[in-house]
Amino acid sequence: MTRSFDGTPVDDEWLDELCAEALWSPTAGNSAGVRLYTLSAEYVAAYIDVATDEKWRESSRRVEGLLRAGAVVLVTSRPQDYLERYAEADKVASGLSDRSNWPLPYWHTDAAMTTMALLLLLEESNWRATIWGNFRNDGIVLDWAGINDEELFAAILIGRGDGNDVASSSLGREVPSRHERVHRLTP
Ligand SMILES: Cc1cc2nc3c(=O)[nH]c(=O)nc-3n(C[C@H](O)[C@H](O)[C@H](O)COP(=O)(O)O)c2cc1C
Repeated sequence: MTRSFDGTPVDDEWLDELCAEALWSPTAGNSAGVRLYTLSAEYVAAYIDVATDEKWRESSRRVEGLLRAGAVVLVTSRPQDYLERYAEADKVASGLSDRSNWPLPYWHTDAAMTTMALLLLLEESNWRATIWGNFRNDGIVLDWAGINDEELFAAILIGRGDGNDVASSSLGREVPSRHERVHRLTP
C-alpha cells in the first residue's frame, strides 16, 4: 500500500477502462453484481471528508498525503443480483435465493476479487494505491455518491507515491510468514 501521493491526477478515461478490465474477475454464477465508481482528483477531498471523521482528519499523520491522491474508486456490490441469480432454475436448489442462507455472501467475495484485480492492474501500470476497507461511514458515502441498493466493499485511493509514506503500524506486527501460511495436506 502507498498512502502518500504526489498529486498527479489519474486520467479519467484510462481509469474507467482499467476498471472495466478489472471486472474480468470471477463472479459467482455470473451474477455480475460488482460496480465500480470512479472519482477524479478534484473530488478526492470531498470523498475523504465524507468517508472519515473530523477527529481522524485532525489527528492523522497521513491525511495530507492521501489528499494528494489522483483518483478514488469505490467498489460496491448489489446483493439483489445474487439473490435473483440463485433463484434461477439451475441454482435454486442451493437455497441461496434467501439472503439469510448465505454462509459467506458472494457479493463481497466478488467485490474482493475485483478489488484485487484492480490493485494488480494499477501496480502493473506503475500507479500506487491503498485500499480502505469499509468500517465506518458507508451509508454516508453511498448517499453522497447517490448509490442505492448496493453495499460498499472498499475504496481504492490511487496516485503516484511521493516517498513520504508514514509506515503503517500494522507492518510491525509479528505475523506468521507467507510460507508458514501454506499447508500441504496429505489426508
Ligand atoms: C479488507 C482490507 C481493509 C483494509 N483497510 C485499510 C484501511 O482502512 N486503511 C489503510 O490504511 N489500510 C487498509 N488496508 C491495507 C492493509 O493495512 C495492508 O494491506 C496491510 O497492512 C499490509 O501492508 P501492505 O499491503 O502494504 O503489504 C486494508 C486491507 C484490506 C485487505
